[in-house]
Amino acid sequence: MTIQERVAAARQTLRDAGIGANEAELSARMLAQHVLGWDAARYFTASNEPEPSTFAQRYDALIARRAAREPTAYITGRQEFWDLSFEVSPAVLIPRPETELIVEAALEHFGADRTRSMAVADVGTGCGCLAVALAREFPCACVVATDISDAALDVARRNAERHGVADRIRFLRTNVLDGVHQTFDLIVANPPYVRQGDRPALQLEVREHEPSVALFGGETGFDLVATFVGQAAGRLRPGGYLMCEFGFGQDVSVEELVAKTSGLAMVGLRRDLQGIARTAITQRV
Ligand SMILES: C[S@@+](CC[C@H](N)C(=O)[O-])C[C@H]1O[C@@H](n2cnc3c(N)ncnc32)[C@H](O)[C@@H]1O
Repeated sequence: MTIQERVAAARQTLRDAGIGANEAELSARMLAQHVLGWDAARYFTASNEPEPSTFAQRYDALIARRAAREPTAYITGRQEFWDLSFEVSPAVLIPRPETELIVEAALEHFGADRTRSMAVADVGTGCGCLAVALAREFPCACVVATDISDAALDVARRNAERHGVADRIRFLRTNVLDGVHQTFDLIVANPPYVRQGDRPALQLEVREHEPSVALFGGETGFDLVATFVGQAAGRLRPGGYLMCEFGFGQDVSVEELVAKTSGLAMVGLRRDLQGIARTAITQRV
C-alpha cells in the first residue's frame, strides 16, 4: 500500500466517526506527517511511495485516537501560532487563528518603533502563544505572563525557552493580575469566555478534551472578562492599550463594560475572516 492510500482510508475512518470533510482531510495528513517526520512539502512530493514497514501500525493507532475525537494538536503535541510551533498538551487551550488578531493589533499600534522598551502583560497565557509571539515581535519588550494553572505555565515556560525569549518573560501563577503592581504599555488577554450553558453545543473535541478552566467564564461567559477589564485599567500607563478577545455575540457587552470602566475608552474592534467581531482594542485615557 502507498502512504497516500493509507491516508485515504484513514480519512474515511475519520469521516465515519462524524468528523467534517475538511477536518478529516487535514487530520489524516497531519498525523501522517507526524508519524513520518515529514513537512508538508515532502508529504506532497513523496506520499505516493510505498508506506514504510512500521508506518501502518503507528499511524492507525493515532487515527483511532483522532476518531475518538481527541484533537490532532494534542496527539502531535504541536500547534502553529503566528508562524511559530508551540508545544501543547491537554493542560492548555489549543491556540486559535483568531487570537493572532491581537498580535496584529499590537503591531499596528506599537510597530512604528519596535526597538523601544515596552512593558507587556499577557493574562491567562495558556501555552504562552501571545506572550512568546509578542516577545519575538518586540525585541525590547519585557512580558509578565500570568495563569491560574501551574500545568499551563510549565508548558508556556518551555515554549518561551524553545523560542529564545525566556529571559524576557516572567511567568506568574496568579488570578488575573493579582500581586502584579507594575504598569504596562500593553495588556493582552484571551480569557475564558464561553457561557457555562453553552457546554453541550461545543464540539466534542473542545468539550471533552480542552481544559474547562480555559473555556468557561461562568453563567454569562463574562466572569473573568469583567474582573480583567476592571483590574487592567488601573495597570495601564497613560495612552497604554488593553487588547482582549471575546466570544461570538459578546461585542455589545464588551462595549458596555468598557464604557462604564473609568479611564478606559474603546478605540477599535477587530473581526476575523468571517467578519465576526473578536477583539476589543481599548486605550487608557
Ligand atoms: C482561553 S485560554 C487562553 C490561552 C492562551 N492565551 C491562548 O490565547 O491560546 C484562557 C487561559 O486563562 C487561564 N485562566 C483561567 N482563569 C484564570 C484566572 N482567574 N486568572 C488567570 N488565568 C486564568 C486558563 O488557565 C487558560 O490558560
